[in-house]
Amino acid sequence: MTIKWFDRLDSTNSELLRHIDEYDNLSVVAAVEQFAGRGQRGNRWLSRPGDNLTFSLLLKPRDLPAAEFMSLTFMATLAVRNWLEDQGVSASIKWPNDIYVGKRKICGMLIENGISEGKITYSVIGIGLNLNQEAFPGELVNPISLKRLTGKETDPREALEDILSRFDTASLENGEHRKMLLTEYEADLFQKGQLCLYRNLLNDNEFYGTIEGVTLGGRLRVDVNGTSCSFAFKEISYIL
Ligand code: BTN
Repeated sequence: MTIKWFDRLDSTNSELLRHIDEYDNLSVVAAVEQFAGRGQRGNRWLSRPGDNLTFSLLLKPRDLPAAEFMSLTFMATLAVRNWLEDQGVSASIKWPNDIYVGKRKICGMLIENGISEGKITYSVIGIGLNLNQEAFPGELVNPISLKRLTGKETDPREALEDILSRFDTASLENGEHRKMLLTEYEADLFQKGQLCLYRNLLNDNEFYGTIEGVTLGGRLRVDVNGTSCSFAFKEISYIL
């Protein structure tokens, strides 16, 4: 992988998307500061300049079926979760692509894909990981950083190299390996096996359910009163 560090960028995802043809497979763009960091659902991603990791990895797979786009999420979330484990922090994956420690968010991802003829042609995997930031703006709901958890400073550049070495990109283009990524991802799911409260966003009802796992297509499998249901992103939210 080749890493290109920028002092200041609007967004590392936007940088790769703007020049998608010029950047090769496995290019990484990282920024000390993002002035227009983008989050899920059109939200902003706020990160104090220099404190944290904000980077994006570009993949140009040759043989990844579009229906299995969630394998990208499985691979990326596992890389960060397992790296955190090495730092002595036990984290879980909040479906689809947040990393939580307890009920607090330490990492968010924005994955933007290109699809043609049923295949993923490119994927920009944008990751914001809170390393050294100690105070967060009030508009963020439940943030936490590695430093708040361990008391230790982490060098973002060293952390980036370490995390990238954990990306199992080779598994993406092999059906059996993709299933293994799913199994690993499911093992680390936030609230798995616990009876918890959720909101059905299709009818706005609250309900108790138990997360069982995720389908290869990425739907969340939840047991609701003994019935197995599955939800797409935007059909269910967590009530924490
Ligand atoms: C979220 O949880 O809402 C997703 C946050 C994703 C943030 C990262 S930071 C690096 C990359 N560049 C962006 O503009 N966003 C992603």
